[in-house]
Amino acid sequence: MTKAKAYPLDRSDREFKRLRIQAEALAAESDVMLQRIGVGSGWNCLDIGCGVGGITDLLSARVGPSGHVLGVDLDESSLVAARGWAEGLNLDNVSFQQANVLALDLPAESFDLVHMRYVVTTIRHYEEVIRNAYALVKPGGWLVLEESDSEGLHCYPEHPAWYRLKTLLQDVFDAVGADTRAGRRCWPIMRALGLEGLSFRPCQAGCRSGDDLVDYLPQTIISSRRFVAEHGLMEDAELDRLIADCRAHLADLDTLSTNVTLVQIWGRKPE
Ligand SMILES: C[S@@+](CC[C@H](N)C(=O)[O-])C[C@H]1O[C@@H](n2cnc3c(N)ncnc32)[C@H](O)[C@@H]1O
Repeated sequence: MTKAKAYPLDRSDREFKRLRIQAEALAAESDVMLQRIGVGSGWNCLDIGCGVGGITDLLSARVGPSGHVLGVDLDESSLVAARGWAEGLNLDNVSFQQANVLALDLPAESFDLVHMRYVVTTIRHYEEVIRNAYALVKPGGWLVLEESDSEGLHCYPEHPAWYRLKTLLQDVFDAVGADTRAGRRCWPIMRALGLEGLSFRPCQAGCRSGDDLVDYLPQTIISSRRFVAEHGLMEDAELDRLIADCRAHLADLDTLSTNVTLVQIWGRKPE
């Protein structure tokens, strides 16, 4: 079994909140994709690396009471948060269980749709992760990826603190064996699987001052701060100053920013 290197983000309540804000900001774009795929009543769906909920709520609404959505994640504390959240929303057709995408113990070819968002981004192992997920898709079912391309991170007007933090985010992910530009690297692997109707849809969330997602870049850096120190990428005092400068810039009503590009790639396993 392949062993994942260190996961680049912490698993604190603050990080869980960041994931929830991110999921809400991306929900409309993920749902457009599910609509295009035609996810419907009675489907059996799997969200691998669902974290504190992932897109299980969107899938739940589409598959209805005759369908089922399973969310799996390596991390039990994330699943505890996911279960509490799903209960609060009365998602009766959703369940969660612990699983490692690098050593999956789920029945082969049993899901109508298998989805991952920001999983390859955080653990790499591109080929193995994608092939393991593919093995669970029924013939005629869908394999669906949403991964990151950090080149999409921009702010207007440009500000040096923003761009230093962007580079730092890319460097810290590289240092732990993750990849903020995983989206583009997944395409040839998805193509090689011979999926039918292979689709590519890059999309992006944008923020103004005061939007929930506006603190994405400082927050993500804070969640990977332990590894910034461990790999000697930046001194604490400089990091604190950059985060404060970046936040002050983002708080300006004239500042706009764009998030990492959400690279959506999906296709159907031949019958
Ligand atoms: C950036 S989070 C994304 C969570 C969720 N997909 C979303 O979009 O909100 C990545 C998730 O992948 C999970 N993960 C990391 N390594 C994993 C593995 N080997 N198997 C399963 N899940 C894993 C992490 O615990 C984390 O919850």
